[in-house]
Amino acid sequence: MSQAKFPFTNSRRTFLRSVGGALLIPSVSQAICEPPGVPGSARPWRADCRPIRARRPASTLAAAEIQKLKDAYQAMRDLAVSDPSDPRGFTHQANIHCWFCSVTPTPVHGNWQFFAWHRAYLYFHERILGKLINDSEFRLPYWDWEISTHRQLPGAYSTPNNNSNPLWNGTRAMSPTDELPGEDVNEDVMEPVYSAANFGEFGGGAGYSGIPEGSPHGSVHVDVGGFAGDMGAFDTAGRDPIFYAHHANVDKIWSDWNKGASSHENPADPAFLNLSWSFYDENRIWRSIKASQLLNHETQLRYNYGLSRFREILPCILDWIIVRPPWKFDRPVIVEPRFRDQLVKALDNRRPVRLHINNPQIPLDKSAVYRVYADLESATADEGPKSPAFLGVIPLVLNTREKHHPTKAPQVVLNVSRRISALLHSTDGIQLAFVERPAKKDKAAGKAQLLTAREVYFSYGETIRE
Ligand code: C2O
Repeated sequence: MSQAKFPFTNSRRTFLRSVGGALLIPSVSQAICEPPGVPGSARPWRADCRPIRARRPASTLAAAEIQKLKDAYQAMRDLAVSDPSDPRGFTHQANIHCWFCSVTPTPVHGNWQFFAWHRAYLYFHERILGKLINDSEFRLPYWDWEISTHRQLPGAYSTPNNNSNPLWNGTRAMSPTDELPGEDVNEDVMEPVYSAANFGEFGGGAGYSGIPEGSPHGSVHVDVGGFAGDMGAFDTAGRDPIFYAHHANVDKIWSDWNKGASSHENPADPAFLNLSWSFYDENRIWRSIKASQLLNHETQLRYNYGLSRFREILPCILDWIIVRPPWKFDRPVIVEPRFRDQLVKALDNRRPVRLHINNPQIPLDKSAVYRVYADLESATADEGPKSPAFLGVIPLVLNTREKHHPTKAPQVVLNVSRRISALLHSTDGIQLAFVERPAKKDKAAGKAQLLTAREVYFSYGETIRE
């Protein structure tokens, strides 16, 4: 990897520090996780007057659009070399994520800052890219991995697959022909996301994450970055250009969820609306923007997305009925007849059934994807989705590989509609178990363990008319 293009090594940081006194913006130029600007001194963000343009799926970009995207990232990488103090350079852009994920007192993962902060980060990043190629119509593409034919890295990001491509990153665990595992991003994963009943389920609260922040968002990080690659931990993830296409899709999912139903509202709580973060804009002006200014991306931030697939995946709005038996999941659970009848009836009526696992006790010491099964034997055999006892996955992404900053387990809601009916009838009971999915198919599986959690319950959807 050429040091000129990827100036992340210690030697460069040391060099910058030694000349730091002469730099105009020393605080952004020294180390990866230093503050991106001076707190409190930002000018407020003002209305954006660019034309409204669509962000488009990365896999559908025409050759000329791919070239533009590459030119923009090349300019951003070049800037990091020609003027290391310029906060618009690629190194600084990547380091913003490092700072906000692991250093700020309330990091932007694991709580309701997740969607809003990443929207703001991408917005300023996109404006800078557009400015560097002098194109106010430039918009980031998104990697729509929920579409089954779009599970390889979008071609632009891996062709050519070497450092002549400014969208390439040499630390990925995925080759250009690898695909994201369906179990991480398919309809079983997306259904509980699009149908999340309220913002707490969708986007989390002040102290907990929403459903999609774990699965699918975290799984894609682990799949692309593995344990050692940049995408595999939050402090380094911004160094891979695919990060921004991944997060544009995460942002689209928020937009689609909002459009899905009138009850899919963002929090009205001033504690959310007044959240505020600062970024350098395309003119190197340090700006603060509030969550309330980010909610209408089309009129405020001047981009939109194509058609929402929400209605295709989930044709009706659902009201979720909770089935909460007094279960302990550290031993086999026989589903009592009254609960079983209720769930079987819901399944017979083709209602989606979901399994909620609050605060699952999974290892927090490495980035990994864990598979959840309905019994220990199946977890040990680890046959994945083809096992009738397979229930879904729980991803975990470290904030930093050095583990200086604690990570917590995500909120887990699994769509088990297609799997649960056999299990409900089993007299052996359900005994949740999990196993780490090996990074490569040829590696041995991890050791299966029983899964405990603070709380485990089911819910099923009833159609309501809006
Ligand atoms: Cu801030 Cu996908 O991470």
